[in-house]
Amino acid sequence: MTQQITNLAEYKETYQRSIDNPEAFWEEQAESFSWSKKWDKVLEWDFRKPDVKWFAGGKLNITENCLDRHLSSRGDQVAILWEPNDPDNDVQSYTYKELHAAVCKMANALKANNIKKGDRVCFYMPMVPELAIGVLACARIGAIHSVVFAGFSASALADRIKDASCNMVICSDYNARGTKNIPVKAIVDEAISMGCDSVETVLVHRNTGDDVVWNDIDKWWHEEIYDQSPSCPAEVMDSEDMLFILYTSGSTGKPKGVVHSCGGYMVYTCYTFKNVFQYSDGDIYWCTADIGWITGHSYIVYGPLLAGATTVMFEGVPTYPDAGRFWEVCDKHKINQFYTAPTAIRALMARGNQYVDKYDLSTLKVIGSVGEPINEEAWNWYNEHVGKFKIPIVDTWWQTETGGIMITPLPGITDTKPCYASYPMPGVQLILVDSEGNIVEGNDKEGLLCITFPWPSMIRTTYGDHERCRQTYFSSFDNMYFTGDGARRDKDGRYRIIGRVDDVINVSGHRMGTAEVENAINEHENVVESAVVGYPHDIKGQGIYAYVITQNPVSDEEKFQKEVRDVVTKVIGPIAKPDIIQITSGLPKTRSGKIMRRILRKVASGDVSNLGDTSTLLNPEIVEEIKNGAKV
Ligand code: WTA
Repeated sequence: MTQQITNLAEYKETYQRSIDNPEAFWEEQAESFSWSKKWDKVLEWDFRKPDVKWFAGGKLNITENCLDRHLSSRGDQVAILWEPNDPDNDVQSYTYKELHAAVCKMANALKANNIKKGDRVCFYMPMVPELAIGVLACARIGAIHSVVFAGFSASALADRIKDASCNMVICSDYNARGTKNIPVKAIVDEAISMGCDSVETVLVHRNTGDDVVWNDIDKWWHEEIYDQSPSCPAEVMDSEDMLFILYTSGSTGKPKGVVHSCGGYMVYTCYTFKNVFQYSDGDIYWCTADIGWITGHSYIVYGPLLAGATTVMFEGVPTYPDAGRFWEVCDKHKINQFYTAPTAIRALMARGNQYVDKYDLSTLKVIGSVGEPINEEAWNWYNEHVGKFKIPIVDTWWQTETGGIMITPLPGITDTKPCYASYPMPGVQLILVDSEGNIVEGNDKEGLLCITFPWPSMIRTTYGDHERCRQTYFSSFDNMYFTGDGARRDKDGRYRIIGRVDDVINVSGHRMGTAEVENAINEHENVVESAVVGYPHDIKGQGIYAYVITQNPVSDEEKFQKEVRDVVTKVIGPIAKPDIIQITSGLPKTRSGKIMRRILRKVASGDVSNLGDTSTLLNPEIVEEIKNGAKV
């Protein structure tokens, strides 16, 4: 059994032990899983390359640990409980036995369609149980899954399919979200037509049953699994074999395929799940994220199933049929642990307390937050209206690249403080540095957040481009992983995440590279150049503010703005649409031609009081124009 910390003294002792001898600590955790061969060495590492191997030589299959291992002890316990978009539709549940059989059937269907160990399978699906089943079926046979959030556009999907040369795409016919019925299959068809030559099969799950156009490479999920056996031997994987790729945005225009491997990811996600949520047998746990993001991978699918938990999957949105849906579902399923994003909390807070106060939330024991800084007002509202001042909030900081939760309070064990993700998990060695890489010692200080020692679920590479991984995360400061976040350490050693210090903005918890959005805007035929920055937004955390230079004067600005938003929706997806578009005749540039984003950020945040020294600009006169044209 994975160890669970139960009190403060134990946290302190465990943390110290994990730092004094990380190998011994993680080896102890790894012992509780089933391995077909034990590892030869717990850890080998070199951050400069980077080259990190956990449990090297160990052989395992993560699905045996998620499923088979639980069959004798909890085969009839519900593993996945699915709440549909429409509250009048039936809830579905899969016990561990049923989930095991469904995964095996699907694994056999994948094999029957020529998918083998090492092949890449792309998922573009709504939040239906089949998404979890499909992902686990890949892991069962050693195929690498790459889940693409089903809100991305056809062109963004095509880029991701091509980057990983996926052999298969798995999708649904339609995606029911709120009152919308999104034609997922049609978007896949469009993506495939954009030169995704590696794709041999598109496997379609019938979800809503509405009509779809049928192509030669398409096959129905239900037909492919129909005759398959409900047992499938698990492929023996090396601890360091790739488990999945997940694309995320960075400072450059092209999203990176973050790669996670089997053994370390398994140990870390299970350990953090059990400890951060203090999960006990019989609890019903609900994380509202989408499996298209890392939170869904680690804390809807893998972490909870590894721990033998009952994990809830929700198809819908927080505001349908009304802004009480989350709380209605908590009440209905007697949820014990609830994990969501600050943007959802802020959106629901804005709708009024009547939506939450009428539900019985007395089964909740822990409530969590992830994805972006949670502001004090939202934290207080969550604490009062959801936690009723009685239960701890875990503000969990982590990243796609870290694979699992890194900084968090442990509920009922360490203290909580609004806006603070607080304390490192055991095994996590944090450091603050200044921009030159000097260590910021002592408390009550700010700096750039880095990690000095490997942890099991860390990024191994960026798919197909290892140098990019080195450059992005391991080259800023010698021998450290750089998170891209700034942080403050308070007088008691708690960490508060301030936000990204690179060109990444966090819109409703979705990571967006400014360059990515700019590239999309620039596809508009009348746009010459653009610069995108984040600005404070009441609900989304950060909104997208775009400065745009046009070729020809714009006569109908409203029409132009709509066109720009449409282009971005087409290239990336609706999540990247700029909130504010300001047309300008130029952008403030340094003499070397670099855009001075600092100035643009200040103007976008409504603060034009002190823009700093602008005399070194190539075109200082542009600052006045930008200030005068500001739309905030
Ligand atoms: C931000 C999501 C403040 C941070 C799991 C990080 C947070 C980025 C928090 C990663 C938090 C995540 N407080 N900021 N509790 N959690 N972030 O890869 O800037 O989608 O670098 O992973 O989200 O986003 P990602």
